Amino acid sequence: MPVRVGLIGVGDMGAAHVRTLSTWVPTASVVTAYDPDTDRATAVCGEVGGRVAGSATEIIEAGDVDAVLVAAPDPLHEELVLACIAAGKPTLCEKPLTTSAEGSQRVVDAEVAGGRRLVQVGFMRRYDPAYVQLRQLCADGAVGDVRVVHCIHRNARAHPAASSDGIIFNSMIHELDAVPWLLDDPLAAITVHAPGLPDRALRDPQVALIETAGGRLVTVEVFVNAGYGYDVQCEVVGERGTARLTPPYGLGLRRDGVDGVAVIDDFVARFRDAYRIELSAWVASLVAGTPTGPSAWDGHRANLAASAGVESLHTYGRVAIPHPDRPALYR
Ligand SMILES: NC(=O)c1ccc[n+]([C@@H]2O[C@H](COP(=O)([O-])OP(=O)(O)OC[C@H]3O[C@@H](n4cnc5c(N)ncnc54)[C@H](O)[C@@H]3O)[C@@H](O)[C@H]2O)c1
Repeated sequence: MPVRVGLIGVGDMGAAHVRTLSTWVPTASVVTAYDPDTDRATAVCGEVGGRVAGSATEIIEAGDVDAVLVAAPDPLHEELVLACIAAGKPTLCEKPLTTSAEGSQRVVDAEVAGGRRLVQVGFMRRYDPAYVQLRQLCADGAVGDVRVVHCIHRNARAHPAASSDGIIFNSMIHELDAVPWLLDDPLAAITVHAPGLPDRALRDPQVALIETAGGRLVTVEVFVNAGYGYDVQCEVVGERGTARLTPPYGLGLRRDGVDGVAVIDDFVARFRDAYRIELSAWVASLVAGTPTGPSAWDGHRANLAASAGVESLHTYGRVAIPHPDRPALYR
């Protein structure tokens, strides 16, 4: 019997998840989806033989839905995940878990009160083969003790809902989760620089300088209107060498006298393998009984860093990142 999944939100990310589940995860079946854009929901359900739901609540409460995948806009995540916890439904919620640290604390509190892990957060970089190798290499000491990490996160065009604070909560959130995971070293303080231009509402690009509890330095450039493509880079600098994801992730092209590498402009293409592995692992963990991927606590820890980043963006100062005790449920 496959794990029967209901999707809430089938825009770019949700539709890609539907296709990944139906194509690559034979132990899952997409049975229903809800999106207020009914044309979109109808098209996506039509591809996989699912039914179009009339509301998110209908999906969460449906007897034939074993697990819910939330890919609705960020501000809706908290309410939807809390409803899934109340209904006892395992949930993969796209990042960020919520749009505030107070909100993610409420999710953690609800899950802890229920006494079992139900929530996984869509931090798919933890499943990207190159990131996984980079993390292993750091753990093995292949470049010596890591002293600095440089991260770059560029999009060709900003999402229409992009905001200056959202650049941190929606985009930089990936680095705020991935870097402490890569180094096994929590983030301790953040300073965000984003001068902005007088004629532009969006403060983009933003560059953050982050200090870890272990005394490492991390730089993160997020540029959501970089124009040329989608480009995620990461380099770790150790005392004996450096290691990096090979940038950009694309196709070698020699043409018109130029030897270059084509840059894709699409996160789905860049992280295709990561999404496949993420969703396969999520469904396998549900078959085994409990989600084991990035937890609500991981989502909350990233949100604490993002919240400090937003404060820094507005105060132009260095902001300490709280480091609360991990509840027993997440040990
Ligand atoms: N992990 C990743 O790599 C990654 C990449 C992109 C987006 N995301 C996340 O996925 C989520 C969706 O992003 P996207 O790029 O697909 O955005 P999108 O704008 O393409 O899609 C959002 C969809 O949500 C729908 N929606 C609006 N209100 C809704 C509601 N009340 N209930 C259900 N659906 C509703 C919209 O109609 C739209 O189809 C966001 O949380 C985003 O942060 C994650």
